[in-house]
Amino acid sequence: REEKLKRINESIRAFPDFPTKGILFRDICPILKDPKSLTAVIDLFEDYVRQKHQDVDLIVGLDARGFLFGPLLAQRLGIGFVLVRKKGKLPGPTVSVAYDLEYGKAEAEIQEDAVAPGQKVLLIDDLLATGGTLNAACALLKKQQADIVGCVVVVELKDLNGADKIKPHTVFSLVQY
Ligand code: PRP
Ligand code: HPA
Repeated sequence: REEKLKRINESIRAFPDFPTKGILFRDICPILKDPKSLTAVIDLFEDYVRQKHQDVDLIVGLDARGFLFGPLLAQRLGIGFVLVRKKGKLPGPTVSVAYDLEYGKAEAEIQEDAVAPGQKVLLIDDLLATGGTLNAACALLKKQQADIVGCVVVVELKDLNGADKIKPHTVFSLVQY
């Protein structure tokens, strides 16, 4: 586990003043470029889910970087993957909710038939900053009467207290800054 975390840590870069002044942007792209890092991420997520949430029915990934890790984890676990997308991208009847980001505003959407009432879902994204995005996704899933078992992210920016915004749901992260 320590070796895997080290490998993941070494695959995250920081860019000052991106996308706007004052933001130190944590870039996870090198994880995807290094197969060992990517495998380490999915391994550690899989261990966590198998230990804490054996009964999860679906992985719900957040647009766009949650889509990079979510389907890999879902496939490992042998369960389905569902997309929460930015507004206007999903066909058919959708449910939507507006939210604030660390550096802007957005609106999230899910297909109305994506999750059945009572299904146990685990949310996944690359990074937790203010928690606005994950909180919005939780609101969408609540509208669909899903049972949210928790959230997982690769990176958690502790100073922004995003985990507080997601309460009572728990956030599991691999790397913290
Ligand atoms: C980033 C990141 C998370 C979110 C975290 O995505 O990938 O989804 O912001 O911020 P928050 O905790 O303050 O809500 P972004 O909206 O930039 O979109 P992208 O994944 O499409 O690049
Ligand atoms: N990196 C990537 N995505 C983000 C960040 C960051 O530092 N802050 C908010 N979304």
